[in-house]
Amino acid sequence: MTTDAADAFAAAYGDAPDGVWAAPGRINVIGEHTDYNEGFVLPAALPHTTRVAARRRADGRIRLISAQGDGKVTELALDGLAPGAVPGWAAYPAGVFWALAQAGHPVGGADLAFTSDVPTGAGLSSSAALECATAIALDELYGLGLDAPTRALLAQRAENDFVGVPCGALDQMASSCCVAGHAFFLDTRTLTGRQVPLDLPAVGLSLLVIDTRVKHDLGDGAYAALRAGCERAAELLGVRALRDIGVAELAAAEEKLPAELRPLLRHVVTEDQRVLDTVRLLDAGEPRALGPVLTAGHASLRDDYRVSCPETDLAVSAANAAGALGARMMGGGFGGSVLALVDTGRLAAVEQAVRAAFAAAGFGAPLVFPAVPSPGAHRIA
Ligand code: GLA
Repeated sequence: MTTDAADAFAAAYGDAPDGVWAAPGRINVIGEHTDYNEGFVLPAALPHTTRVAARRRADGRIRLISAQGDGKVTELALDGLAPGAVPGWAAYPAGVFWALAQAGHPVGGADLAFTSDVPTGAGLSSSAALECATAIALDELYGLGLDAPTRALLAQRAENDFVGVPCGALDQMASSCCVAGHAFFLDTRTLTGRQVPLDLPAVGLSLLVIDTRVKHDLGDGAYAALRAGCERAAELLGVRALRDIGVAELAAAEEKLPAELRPLLRHVVTEDQRVLDTVRLLDAGEPRALGPVLTAGHASLRDDYRVSCPETDLAVSAANAAGALGARMMGGGFGGSVLALVDTGRLAAVEQAVRAAFAAAGFGAPLVFPAVPSPGAHRIA
């Protein structure tokens, strides 16, 4: 086996793994902060993956090492796992063992070695890639026969209940279920979806990721506070989730809410509509028309949801000023990455304009790369 994860495995454990699996990070074309409101999302998988080389163990022990970590092996006992007890990055894979065991799946111990090129803290779902790689590896090592959405929901459970981050299902569903060349139109209420062809290069367009390198941290409480605000708004409006309010009912619904909850409602309701509009435009073969929808999504995240920051705002405005068709921040916010829709012929000009704007503002250099819709979690060796 000639994968970097297999090499890391051999270096750590002195032997060959039983197999190697990969799970990707993701972009989200549109549909931000809608997943925990039971709304719509439209992610696509990145070519950047977390790989895991893994081998079963018969003694219920777990050993974990990451090339991105401190070079030390973390050793745990499967039957000793408890929420909150595992610090740092190892909590994500340990949480997947725990979630599988909690759900009654006959999972045992394993040795795992991880490598990854998914940028961390960049709003590109490096945590979900770590969880979903672990989930598919354990599924296949132990012959559990789980399908991709089931693995995604177990990974989400690991993050919610073991790591303690109250995220929705967007990231794990994307990392597990995406298909190359497509975006995944997902209804997070029913967890049913449809793969929407996304072959932008064929029409001379590209999606550009601009990672501002400003680190966000979903665990810092802001995300949980926003989620709680949405749940409170739904309760006051007498609906199960904000997903149940349509744009036609928005004005009347706003009247029923205290001032501080109105912008949250406005964002969620209009964002769900933007996902539907985007899918309609893609189905109609009008991808250029996506640009203004993306930029409107950014304005809503900046002005109503208030999760943008100076760096993401600048990346959006500089990209658009340099000829991008539209741009928006992605992920939880407070940093992270921007997605821009760009004529392929203008990619270099847009990248250069963003770099120049960042330098002029005294911001650190961003990481810029094109997003090519790639496969979800799969076995590689
Ligand atoms: C983070 C969370 C997701 C989702 C996004 C915002 O990425 O993990 O569940 O809520 O923020 O759309």
